[in-house]
Amino acid sequence: MNTTNDIRRSFLEYFGEQGHEIVPSSPLIPHNDPTLMFVNAGMVPFKNIFTGTEKSKFSTATSSQKCVRAGGKHNDLDNVGYTARHHTFFEMLGNFSFGDYFKEQAIHNAWDLITRVWGIAADRLTVTVYHTDDEAFDLWRKISGLPEERIIRIATNDNFWSMGDTGPCGPCSEIFYDHGDHIAGGPPGSPDEDGDRFVEIWNLVFMQYDQHAGGDRVDLPHPSIDTGMGLERVAAVMQGTHDNYDIDLFKALIAESGSLTGTSTTGENQASHRVIADHLRAASFLVADGVLPANEGRGYVLRRIMRRAMRHAHILGAKDPLMHRMVGSLTGEMGNAFPELIRAKPLIEETLLREETSFRRTLANGLKLLDAEIADMSEGDTLSGETAFKLYDTYGFPYDLTEDALRNRSLNVDRAGFDTAMEQQKAAARAAWKGSGDQASDTVWFDIAEQHGSTEFTGYSSEEGEGVVIAMVKDGAEITQAKAGEDVLILTNQTPFYGESGGQMGDAGTAAGSDDFRATITDTSKPLGRLHAQHARIDSGTLSTGDSIHLVVDGTRRTELRANHSATHLLHKALRHHLGDHVTQKGSLVAPDRLRFDFSHVAALTDEEIAKVEADVNAQIRGNSDVVTRLMSPDDAVAAGALALFGEKYGDEVRVLSMGTEDDTDYSVELCGGTHVRALGDIGLMVIVSESAVSSGVRRIEALTGEAARLWLAERDRKLKSIASVLKSSPEEAADRVSTLVEERKKLDRELTEAKKALALAGDGGSNSAAEVETIGDVAFSGQVINGLNPKELRGLIDEAKKSLSSGIAALIAVNDGRATVAVGVTEDLTDRHNAVELVQAGVAAVGGKGGGGRPDMAQGGGPDGATADQAIAAIKAMIAG
Ligand code: ALA
Repeated sequence: MNTTNDIRRSFLEYFGEQGHEIVPSSPLIPHNDPTLMFVNAGMVPFKNIFTGTEKSKFSTATSSQKCVRAGGKHNDLDNVGYTARHHTFFEMLGNFSFGDYFKEQAIHNAWDLITRVWGIAADRLTVTVYHTDDEAFDLWRKISGLPEERIIRIATNDNFWSMGDTGPCGPCSEIFYDHGDHIAGGPPGSPDEDGDRFVEIWNLVFMQYDQHAGGDRVDLPHPSIDTGMGLERVAAVMQGTHDNYDIDLFKALIAESGSLTGTSTTGENQASHRVIADHLRAASFLVADGVLPANEGRGYVLRRIMRRAMRHAHILGAKDPLMHRMVGSLTGEMGNAFPELIRAKPLIEETLLREETSFRRTLANGLKLLDAEIADMSEGDTLSGETAFKLYDTYGFPYDLTEDALRNRSLNVDRAGFDTAMEQQKAAARAAWKGSGDQASDTVWFDIAEQHGSTEFTGYSSEEGEGVVIAMVKDGAEITQAKAGEDVLILTNQTPFYGESGGQMGDAGTAAGSDDFRATITDTSKPLGRLHAQHARIDSGTLSTGDSIHLVVDGTRRTELRANHSATHLLHKALRHHLGDHVTQKGSLVAPDRLRFDFSHVAALTDEEIAKVEADVNAQIRGNSDVVTRLMSPDDAVAAGALALFGEKYGDEVRVLSMGTEDDTDYSVELCGGTHVRALGDIGLMVIVSESAVSSGVRRIEALTGEAARLWLAERDRKLKSIASVLKSSPEEAADRVSTLVEERKKLDRELTEAKKALALAGDGGSNSAAEVETIGDVAFSGQVINGLNPKELRGLIDEAKKSLSSGIAALIAVNDGRATVAVGVTEDLTDRHNAVELVQAGVAAVGGKGGGGRPDMAQGGGPDGATADQAIAAIKAMIAG
């Protein structure tokens, strides 16, 4: 029953039976503490319950919490591989009392579990108490019966535990196991206590205080209990070894790396196998909890861990990337207890493979450089900071990897020189920055970025979280305090707020702090492309740099942004599919209420093309496949079919988004830093609402998704129904009904024109008079003014008049809206004597117009004075008369 999995189960069951709530491990990224990089103790998820800011549904709890100690206050990275009990990742078994039981029951339970239930020999155990804690001393005497010399008072911080620089803390009591005198080391408090003989297996913290920033220490609302037992350490004890790396779990992982590399796992290889096994766990769990390798923040810690292991794989002579092939062994050992590991297995394998592939490209060259540099050095010498920086900058060696590589040779690295080289590079980047043209504000942003580094964006996986205010900017200058009513830009060390970039608008939401600080965030911008500046209006309270605030993204708005951004990718692909690969993105706006996409294409899209594009996008949406994000080197991204990149420097990382499927491959693959839906079904629906030209060769599509798309369609439907109701028809028949009406209308128009014409020719007895033929000299003439006649009809009427005259001249004037249009026709036999153009011009002049034109047998013109149309007839007659 002593496998690591058995021990975990037994611990949780023991406390479960005592009424403790069995709480699953929290993710490694703390959600309630912005000062902490990773969860580093079992109590971290309960921090706010200890301090009383959060109410708990239960008063006692137990867990096996995933922990990473590879950065911040508790950092064990450098020792891993070279000692029997350091890990970057480990599990902490713990039982917790939130104002329920205190010292006596905590001590009683601990003693009962390890000696009675687990059968660990009491004579192997020694305990420590804080030097002033007589109560704990007496309780140990009473409960364990240990002799006084095995209850050791310790005056140092070893027996006063705190989570970090701030947070819950209190005196503690530790239980040590004596592995026997064949192992070097002395009891706690003795000069050789650091040896491996006496190993601390369980720490019972009597939580009493909350350490505030600035030195204040206040009492917790209730004395509480927090205990932490390293699962790997206690497994070693129960499996009869002093070495954590000899427990079942590590043996399995180390056997796997031995067999995959074909190397012995002992002797000079031992440290490498241990590093690989340990770092495989840390890297896999971090990836499963949403961390991906990066050059900043948590992602950089992950990268350092991965690359350290990968160098050791190289030392072992691994010909191909190794780490990803070990994930199956890890899930076999730990997947039952941590199902997230199984869920994320493909992502973990892929992330490890990519990182190892890209690192191996430069690793060998970097090591060659390092070997050449240290060839003439001897023990105790120091590698120059510039060389360490070159290894970092050109070959991707994190600083601690260089240190690790020199460890066996007992060489040092000039850290200060490394830092100086780093500073110089930053200064050069600053000098080279073209900037926004606004020198003053660029300076502010550079100062902030240099002092605090880039903002860590936590918003891919979560929409709320804590952040420490690192700077505030108002009117282009830094300020340290802001109060209600002020508009300021707030910068925090980490934030879930997306800063406007890549077409996607920045996030909006709220911020709250201790006391009554509340702010509304209306937008987030991204100065220098790496700081997230939250545009805030402070609603109440004051805010100072150094404060912690709780940031909450407007979730509805973000959900809409996600949907519109993913739909944009699908739209881009569908356009390429139906119009051709010449289609490339020329601009994009991802807003909460719509998306706009500009692309290269010459012609307007036909209705059929639009329908096909829309159908494809919606088919992908209904396919509901998961959206997959990968981090890749630019080279790999290009190889994966994403757009080519120019001007990226080695080490730069790109996010590659794949979504949808078509013929068993990814439908869309794009480089993108934006936020996206988890699965395409989350988009709901997409409709294209407009297609237009932006400039020559660039078209624009506007589209809606989700609820906005539904509302738009509903509104269209409502309009259709109202049309149908006016037509007294159904929506289905409305279109036919409208065509019939249009046809009827055309027919009626035609009939009306005919009727008017007939009426005009016949004379209506009113304003129109019938044409009478008279003779001017020897020329037959018919002249007539017709009110309301469409001028288009004139030509036909003149032809008819000419026909009926057979030889003669016809003049017609149509008067419409006060204007006169004059037409004159001359039969062929008379055109050598009378020119229709000249006659028309005479008529046009009489109605206040100028000119008129046509041929000698037929001419037309017009003037504004319809009222003098009769005079135009008279003028024409006068001209014929000569
Ligand atoms: N929080 C205590 C520790 O980490 C139990 O040691």
